[in-house]
Amino acid sequence: MLFDKTVISGLEVKNRIIRSATHDGLADENGAPSDKLIDKYEHLAKNEVGCIITGYAAVSRNGVSPYPRMMKIYDDSVIDKYKELTDAVHRHSVPVVLQIAHCGRQTSSKAIGVQKVAPSNVLHAFYPDKAKELTDAEIYGIINDFVSAAVRAEKAGFDGVQLHGGHGYLLHDFLSPYGNRRKDSWGGSFENRCRIVELIIKGIKEKTSLPVWIKISAEDNRKGGMNIDSSVEICKRLEKAGCDAIEVSCGTVQDGMNTMRSKLMPMDAVFKYREPCASFPALLNKIALPAANLINPVIKQPSPLENFNVENAEKIKKNVSIPIIAVGGIHKSEDMENILSGGKADFVSMCRPFICEPDLAKKLKNGQNEAKCIMCNYCGLVIEKEPTRCLYGRVK
Ligand SMILES: Cc1cc2nc3c(=O)[nH]c(=O)nc-3n(C[C@H](O)[C@H](O)[C@H](O)COP(=O)(O)O)c2cc1C
Ligand code: SF4
Repeated sequence: MLFDKTVISGLEVKNRIIRSATHDGLADENGAPSDKLIDKYEHLAKNEVGCIITGYAAVSRNGVSPYPRMMKIYDDSVIDKYKELTDAVHRHSVPVVLQIAHCGRQTSSKAIGVQKVAPSNVLHAFYPDKAKELTDAEIYGIINDFVSAAVRAEKAGFDGVQLHGGHGYLLHDFLSPYGNRRKDSWGGSFENRCRIVELIIKGIKEKTSLPVWIKISAEDNRKGGMNIDSSVEICKRLEKAGCDAIEVSCGTVQDGMNTMRSKLMPMDAVFKYREPCASFPALLNKIALPAANLINPVIKQPSPLENFNVENAEKIKKNVSIPIIAVGGIHKSEDMENILSGGKADFVSMCRPFICEPDLAKKLKNGQNEAKCIMCNYCGLVIEKEPTRCLYGRVK
């Protein structure tokens, strides 16, 4: 079943393995894909992945990530370079979907050069500067930015767009009562919280013929935030609004070890790449790192480590008829087959396993039964300063 040819949102795919969105840190200074990034995507496509979802691309100037070299798609000058990327992937008959995002509160005003924006000014532990609460007109502006980004994506040859509706970014904050404390027509009731996403989906459908997917955090570990019951209801609404596929994830950047789980916090990488630790004076680091390593084993990490969104994917799948993609800790081909044949999800997607082995899909097809990624999460920290790469359990 895993390697049977099939179709998703009208797109022909060689198998049911999707490369989940992965920020590569390889855009050029304008936010267009660099030649290196295009080569990286072509390499994935050449090696039998069924479909590629790109790393997140910012739809607005004030929605950019603090991580260096994020992709951006808020002006027309980048379209030609994106077209080179889609051409490279299409040479291998693989569809490629652009993930479009607004980082909302999950960035810093210093990184974007203007005050960051959000549905509500809720404190973010990693990015504590104050977010400006969006006005009505600004919300319509952001809806327009998402739609315009999708129009550019279509011109650039993408086969679809995926809204980043999870991991604590702007759309997640609107959907979730934790991030959305508004009392106007964008907050409060369930209908109001879904409004921005529904308007974006409808707007993209009006202006393009692209399939529109969304990635959500079905549970976000925040007090009063997203839980699976409300996520099921949200997904039913989004299907009605025209959404074509849902990828089921969890968590936020604030609890990053939930979205991408690991047995241990990679402390040496935290001290090397994550602010404010990365800027501590060397002497302080010399004392603080061993102390952090000492308490590390007793810091409780989310569990399970494998297949951790499959149960929620299944619950959502039972309530909608559009394809469901499960992501998170999926490593073994036997598990992939069971997820698919058990009707728990229609597709499986992976991020870290493809950072570790970009040719993983081909290897699985040829009989390798498990991804080599050890889920150490060093790749999740290096991106704060450098392009994404596999560090395989140690700072290099
Ligand atoms: C280095 C890195 C970059 C990521 N970039 C994105 C991104 O741009 N968009 C997104 O939705 N998720 C992103 N994620 C999260 C993954 O897509 C995925 O949801 C998570 O890692 C769990 O899947 P896995 O166990 O297969 O890695 C990223 C994760 C890592 C480790
Ligand atoms: S650094 Fe490599 S081995 Fe570790 S989680 Fe990332 S991809 Fe996997």
